[in-house]
Amino acid sequence: MFSDKIQIGLIKQLNREYESSQLYLSMASWVEKKGFEGICEFLYDHSHEERMHMLKLIRYINKRGGNVVIDNVCIKKITYGSLKELFKKLFEHEKKISNKINLLVELSLKEKDFFTYNFLQWYVEEQIEEEALIRMVLDKMELIGEDRGGLYLLDRDIKNIHIKK
Ligand code: FEO
Repeated sequence: MFSDKIQIGLIKQLNREYESSQLYLSMASWVEKKGFEGICEFLYDHSHEERMHMLKLIRYINKRGGNVVIDNVCIKKITYGSLKELFKKLFEHEKKISNKINLLVELSLKEKDFFTYNFLQWYVEEQIEEEALIRMVLDKMELIGEDRGGLYLLDRDIKNIHIKK
């Protein structure tokens, strides 16, 4: 059964995915202006992925007979002190998203909506990957510190991650 509680929870989540897409997009634009080609491609690409996460939720809600509402999302801050600060913010953001997915999984069990429980497993896997990816970039930035040569190489490596996907 597709309850109102589940529907409201999924609509909130699709809007969070939309917000994520806009956040990655604004970050990509900021990074592009700083000249980091690889990192900006990674972020533009990820913005697209987040939009796909949103679409997946929209299609699922419609399939279950629900009604989708899309909020006006506005990302105001488009400037960061450093790349490290930007990735720290992304990591916090992804952890927040993971927490919301976990709460939705819990709700689907409480409501005995096993279709939604099954649907959400894809998001659980995705969040594990996303957190690991951003953490890996942050770890590398920690190692590099202020070394500009190191940042140049990291930018090149991230471009390769982007191509391999
Ligand atoms: Fe769709 Fe990065 O969470």
